Amino acid sequence: MSELILVKDLSKTYRMGDVEVPALRGVNLAIDRGEFVAVMGSSGSGKSTFMNIVGCLDRPTRGKYFLDGDEVGGLTADQWANIRNKRIGFVFQGFNLLARTTALENVELPMMYNGFGGKQSHARAVEVLGLVGLDKRLDHTPNQLSGGQQQRVAIARALVNRPSLILADEPTGNLDSVTSAEIMALFQKLNAEQGITIVLVTHEGDIAGYAERQIHFKDGLVVADHATRSRVSSAEF
Ligand SMILES: Nc1ncnc2c1ncn2[C@@H]1O[C@H](COP(=O)(O)OP(=O)(O)OP(=O)(O)O)[C@@H](O)[C@H]1O
Ligand SMILES: [Mg+2]
Repeated sequence: MSELILVKDLSKTYRMGDVEVPALRGVNLAIDRGEFVAVMGSSGSGKSTFMNIVGCLDRPTRGKYFLDGDEVGGLTADQWANIRNKRIGFVFQGFNLLARTTALENVELPMMYNGFGGKQSHARAVEVLGLVGLDKRLDHTPNQLSGGQQQRVAIARALVNRPSLILADEPTGNLDSVTSAEIMALFQKLNAEQGITIVLVTHEGDIAGYAERQIHFKDGLVVADHATRSRVSSAEF
């Protein structure tokens, strides 16, 4: 099976007292290993709900989700935590870094959770911070970094455990257009050079244009799914 993500009839209904809020209404999708996908759609169309289920942060009400061939719906909370930590890197709009904690320490932390010792995690954290262009900012805390640099630290943190999948929910939502373009170029490079599958939510068409495929949600359904560009090869970087 070449799909990294396969969802079948995925539905999610939130219950608010007596009221049912349908957020996903039977989504069928396959995303292959190595794809770079932009998820688009108006506010409330179900994008974050979809990302939360794919990220093993929330359970569907109906339907199946296979990650790398494994049906993850029936797993325990501990097994989910393990999948999130080892196989998925998360990047958020608000960076979500620990304040008063250096870039290096922020990136080391997920490795420590995976049981790697100080020396190993230090070397790997330095390596990924270099990869995102922050080798000169290792000891800076978030408030000593620009927004774009903070997002690079967050991307380094997402990469440190060598995930096969990066999920990013509006990662450029808090950044100006020039910085957004730099962050998107970084995602493109990681996708092309390391083969990491990237699924990224955005409202902006020009941001989505960095991905090779766009999936549009409307009212909890996929209403369009098309290629945006041919693959960027690693030779272009
Ligand atoms: N925890 C929740 N409880 C109840 N309803 C929710 C919850 N989370 C989301 N919803 C509802 O589910 C629907 C889909 O929400 P979702 O957050 O997935 O939208 P979105 O596409 O990410 O929107 P946005 O672009 O504004 O981030 C919305 O109608 C929303 O109000
Ligand atoms: Mg959202």
